[in-house]
Amino acid sequence: MKGISVGLLGLGTVGSGVVRIIDNHQDTLMHQVGCPIMVKKVLVQDLSKVRDIKIDSSLLTTSAAEIISDPEIDVVIEVMGGVESTKGYVLEAIRNKKHIVTANKDLMALYGSELLTAASENGCDLFYEASVAGGIPILRGLVDGLASDRITKLMGIVNGTTNFILTKMDQEGLAYEKVLKMAQDLGFAEANPAADVEGLDAARKMAILSTLGFSMKIDLEDVKVQGITGITEEDLHYAKQLGYKMKLLGTAQHDGEKVEVSVQPTLLPETHPLASVHNEYNAVYVYGEAVGETMFYGPGAGSLPTATAIVSDLVGVVKNMRLGVNGRTAITPQFGKNLKGPEE
Ligand code: NDP
Ligand code: HSE
Repeated sequence: MKGISVGLLGLGTVGSGVVRIIDNHQDTLMHQVGCPIMVKKVLVQDLSKVRDIKIDSSLLTTSAAEIISDPEIDVVIEVMGGVESTKGYVLEAIRNKKHIVTANKDLMALYGSELLTAASENGCDLFYEASVAGGIPILRGLVDGLASDRITKLMGIVNGTTNFILTKMDQEGLAYEKVLKMAQDLGFAEANPAADVEGLDAARKMAILSTLGFSMKIDLEDVKVQGITGITEEDLHYAKQLGYKMKLLGTAQHDGEKVEVSVQPTLLPETHPLASVHNEYNAVYVYGEAVGETMFYGPGAGSLPTATAIVSDLVGVVKNMRLGVNGRTAITPQFGKNLKGPEE
């Protein structure tokens, strides 16, 4: 098989991690897919920006068309964020028969169904493991690992920034604004951190998780949301005195008929396993009728953890290319049930 050419949309926190893993793990990737993988072009906004990643400047472009219309690029990795122009780029790339890997939960929570349908119709993979809980393989865990079970409940911490803020306020007594700035500097926060602290980012992830877990379309507006902006240092102090920890908790419950999904600050007893999930780490409980209770835990944000999920998706795409099953495989986490199946 010839080498695989990748186009990257974005070279920020996550995009830099992707370039690092592709560069530093060539041996592992070669072992996994049997051919070299190289980054051919990278879309950025500002060509003159000083970057903390070593990259050949001739690879950088401000023209998305140089990537999504390049016949030599096999896979487009979308790590620029945003929704409207990003959706246009992804759709155009799919029409040009490019496989897509994305970390964009905003895009997937709003347009996942439409994009996955377009990908399936064009024989393309569209993978988005990194969109929920960073480095934790929760989507594949749900869709593949628990494929035989009936999921009844999902519960967890799915936003790294707010967990980082609550941890540092609680353990080190730091002020909210100071810790939010630390989370931004570490690259955990969204471009507009209001999405993190107001609970929207967690709501998007819960919409994706419950859509996959319950095999039914859960829209963002179905999720009840409350963020952490009203939480004070005093709240955390009194909670601690009573033996509790404050966490921004996402919960989704399916009672066989209706589904309820919410994100809200929640007091957990210090003995609860989720109370020991600190900093940018995430954890998700999945309850299945047969399996009972399972817990997925790991880094929920940050450059290399998130990039690991992306490059692992990329490996999945290339393996599917070898088998000639892109856009049709059972392991593709899919929204809805009306996509083209492998038997068609
Ligand atoms: P950054 O803001 O760090 O990087 C965004 C990159 O995209 C930058 O390189 C920027 O260019 C480029 N870019 C943005 N808009 C445009 C545009 N209109 N045209 C061309 N280039 C553009 O974001 P992150 O890396 O943190 O996040 C990327 C995506 O990954 C988002 O969808 C986010 O939600 C998701 N994600 C982030 C995680 C994290 O821990 N940060 C974890 C999981 C998912 P330039 O460098 O020139 O400014
Ligand atoms: N801003 C997000 C978070 C990035 O803090 O969880 C990971 O999705």
